[in-house]
Amino acid sequence: MSELLDAGFDTSQCLIGGRWIGASGGRTLPVEDPSTGHEIGRIARGGKAEIEAAVDAAQTARNGAWGQMPAAERGRLLAKIGRAVEENIEWLAKLEAHDVGKPLTQARADARALARYLEFYGGAADKMHGETIPYLGDYTVFTLREPHGVTGHIIPWNYPMQILGRSVGAALTMGNAAVLKPAEEASLTALAFARIAMECGLPAGALNVVPGLGEEAGAALCAHPGVNHISFTGSLETGRKIQQAAAQNVIPVTLELGGKSPQIVFGDADLDRALPFLVNAGIQNAGQTCSASSRILVEASRHDEVVRLMSERYRALTVGAAIEDQSVGPLISERQKNIVQGFLAEADEDGLAPVAEGQMPKSAPMGGHYVRPTLYGDVDPGHALARDEIFGPVQVIIPFRDEEEAIAIANGTDYGLVAGVWTRDGGRQMRMARAIRSGQVFVNNYGAGGGVELPFGGVGKSGHGREKGFEALYGFSALKTVAVWHGR
Ligand code: NAI
Ligand code: MG
Repeated sequence: MSELLDAGFDTSQCLIGGRWIGASGGRTLPVEDPSTGHEIGRIARGGKAEIEAAVDAAQTARNGAWGQMPAAERGRLLAKIGRAVEENIEWLAKLEAHDVGKPLTQARADARALARYLEFYGGAADKMHGETIPYLGDYTVFTLREPHGVTGHIIPWNYPMQILGRSVGAALTMGNAAVLKPAEEASLTALAFARIAMECGLPAGALNVVPGLGEEAGAALCAHPGVNHISFTGSLETGRKIQQAAAQNVIPVTLELGGKSPQIVFGDADLDRALPFLVNAGIQNAGQTCSASSRILVEASRHDEVVRLMSERYRALTVGAAIEDQSVGPLISERQKNIVQGFLAEADEDGLAPVAEGQMPKSAPMGGHYVRPTLYGDVDPGHALARDEIFGPVQVIIPFRDEEEAIAIANGTDYGLVAGVWTRDGGRQMRMARAIRSGQVFVNNYGAGGGVELPFGGVGKSGHGREKGFEALYGFSALKTVAVWHGR
């Protein structure tokens, strides 16, 4: 096929113990470009055998050069890899644009975030010290932060580089050896990153990458008794399976499972400042974002105004191929497009009409998985559009009467990942920040700056455990308490 992507390397290999090898039997999976629906390459279809070899290699690395590397040197190495990522932003962004349909500007931002994770965590590696604890007479007690050992990382297709950065970056910082199973829809930047890391001198086996299907390579990684910690970002259903597998081996697991995150706009909000956040947090990455703000709660007095202003912005949004860098690219797959269109059809049957839609230029390639950004006004908080994670460029505006009702609606889903509050009233800012059930609350902003430094994770069905910031480093290590009696 003439449209094969020149990635600059053989994409059909796994990285195991520092060696690039094909999956047993030469098994591969297609790489689809969601902007066109065309196959543009192949990746390895790793399975149980590759996972076993990767876990072995990680254990060997823990007992060898990687395990013995002093923290300062580990940090320096991570920072060096971060700089190399920075130098390769264009290459990585192009791979991502073709692999997952992410518009180039957004793909570049992801690559930059990956570099920033490595810079941030690299700088932290030699600062993760323990404590001394006052204890009985003739005792000295101190704590050590030790790596878990081998960490398993199962990541999704929506923000491959960012999630790799926060998860693998933090695990390596603490001296763990990682086995990464990227999503079958999005393995190219994980493989490219691994090449960069190896060129920078990462010891063999510290990072192993085994692409493959969730039910094959993913399930094998979760079930492997040699894995000491699992980090997972993805769907609720798969998260449940992963926690069950982790229970068999009694290992800790971090689950980040998405949300239905609200932004709450009070009557006194600065709408000029709020508007770009209200819209971008819903349509960024075509709404395929765990922390997407898919619900906009607006005090009734300003509901119609917010509908009008958001509608203007929606009508200016354009949809198109990732490489053309429009506001919104395609969805990841035909399956994801069907899920999102199912929600829109259900709304239609229930008599809900969109208040505004984005534009789909005729130049959008045939076969791409495009969905027009779609905005609904005056939606009942009980409707599926306002309750379920859609994972597409769809937002609903919900009116509320007062603070109490805003809190009830905001907390009225099974999820609790992120929330935004827009008000100038200082007391209300604090009351809302405390009353909302979620892992993060942004006041008069929403996710500004990317938040590498800010601990992130959910409550309720959004999952548990925290990644990003220093908190991730606690999660990727185990605390050992040493009590020394030194009496005569
Ligand atoms: P998924 O949760 O099945 O896939 C995420 C990762 O888990 C992939 O690497 C996949 O290979 C792996 N996986 C799947 N089954 C597994 C198993 N049995 N054992 C171990 N690993 C397994 O999500 P999928 O199917 O790609 O998307 C379905 C829905 O999930 C989306 O429509 C969206 O609503 C949600 N989602 C949420 C994400 C988030 O950021 N929270 C990311 C991706 C999807
Ligand atoms: Mg793909």
